[in-house]
Amino acid sequence: MKLSLRDWLEMAEAADALVRIDGADWDLEIGALSAISVKRKDCPALLFDAIKGYAPGYRVLTCSTSNHRLLSRTFNISACTSDMDLVKIFKEKIPQWEAALKEFPPRIVATGPVLENVLSGMDVDLLKFPAPKWHEHDNGRYIGTGDAVITRDPDTGAVNIGTYRIKVHDKKTAALFITPGKHGRLHYEKYHSRAERCPVAISIGHHPLLFRVAGIRTPEGCEYNYVGAVQGEPVRVIQEEITGLPIPADSEIVIVGWCPPDKKMPEGPFGEWTGYYASREEPTPIVEVERIYHRNRPIILGAPPSRPPHDAAYCRTIMGSALLYNELLKNGIPDIQGVWLSEAGLELLIIISLIQRYPGHARQAALFATQNRLSASLGRYVIVVDEDIDPSNIQEVLWAVCTRSDPEKDIDIVRRLWASSLDPIAPRSTRDYFSSRAIIDACKPFEWKDQFPREIQVSPELYRRVTDKWKDVLKLN
Ligand SMILES: Cc1cc2nc3c(=O)[nH]c(=O)nc-3n(C[C@H](O)[C@H](O)[C@H](O)COP(=O)(O)O)c2cc1C
Repeated sequence: MKLSLRDWLEMAEAADALVRIDGADWDLEIGALSAISVKRKDCPALLFDAIKGYAPGYRVLTCSTSNHRLLSRTFNISACTSDMDLVKIFKEKIPQWEAALKEFPPRIVATGPVLENVLSGMDVDLLKFPAPKWHEHDNGRYIGTGDAVITRDPDTGAVNIGTYRIKVHDKKTAALFITPGKHGRLHYEKYHSRAERCPVAISIGHHPLLFRVAGIRTPEGCEYNYVGAVQGEPVRVIQEEITGLPIPADSEIVIVGWCPPDKKMPEGPFGEWTGYYASREEPTPIVEVERIYHRNRPIILGAPPSRPPHDAAYCRTIMGSALLYNELLKNGIPDIQGVWLSEAGLELLIIISLIQRYPGHARQAALFATQNRLSASLGRYVIVVDEDIDPSNIQEVLWAVCTRSDPEKDIDIVRRLWASSLDPIAPRSTRDYFSSRAIIDACKPFEWKDQFPREIQVSPELYRRVTDKWKDVLKLN
């Protein structure tokens, strides 16, 4: 199987999950249409063509995995019935994919569709592509939102792929925004500490699977293997001529250049996944673009953040929930029944359901969920509920909070924890910002859970009886 966006589009079209939009403007219209559409249930992927000021064929795709059908098909997962089912399938599959990483190193090939056009020297022009200005208060046009930024560790040679936002400064210069601790940043920092420039290759359009894997924390150097393990076949890569970095042979557009140690340009604000323009305009590393490779009729894969739910939210909810589920189990916290990172808050609002087995079990799960590799750097609330509550059903969760927790006893605050500059509540006046977490134990009190008032519900037997009898009146299936 090729890691080709064209094959993916055929799949989306066959699934009746692709809408084509001709004539939109890169200046705010593509962003606004994507932000409006993604909030609707079962939002299709949007393929923008004939973009204002650009030749037909220069396209932008958004909302590629913003619903159940597209996300599962992108990951080669056959049909499942609910969001919580999909979390459970990812929970089972992730360890299988991780165990198979060594079997799927990328396969080096001599050529591929990405080499259909090679722009170098005077021909290098980032503005040749319809990079959108996504939000009204963005500081410029962002060509990279659903991208895959490829770098190499100068010490170990490990190749990393991460999704980091890329702004177009001018024809030959792009901004590279990577927050501290990310692999791509560690790589350029190592080059810069030796006064060397860091080679960078940025794939701007590709099968959404590559973007989704690049956007999660996988062990350094294994993203191509990860994609291969999901596909069951190695990714085809080309050894890029100038940098030697392996670029996807089936990519739509790859930008290649150098991140110099001594130059920065202003970047930000940009509308971020929290729903705010939180990061300020800051001097930020750049990429001096030396070459651009692209297919005929190239497609930018966009993933614009917005006030949630946004393009990336559904996938992050499902995959993040599955990853956290596995982390809880791996760390010996038993009888977890479900985990849900809400689309509204993602890591900022985590809900865990469990069967309480011993005093302190619920708090143990909650505290762990505030401090593991997924949520340690930015979080806010963790709610723990009993096993009869569906964590993905916010009404049920709030009912449990309202009726099973006593604020005096069941809300704890952990203070002075790790924080992120993307946190909208971080004071503008300091860089040394700490954050706190609240845990809400919305389980029945452990000591007397068996005497807790019985909840009202229609029993399965009564449900069957009345719905059989009255289905025509209530128009039940
Ligand atoms: C849509 C999307 C956009 C992202 N944008 C950025 C970004 O601009 N900068 C950044 O540091 N991380 C960003 N991330 C998060 C990183 O992609 C993520 O932390 C990933 O694990 C980084 O790869 P690494 O762990 O190999 O460094 C984004 C993630 C997604 C899904």
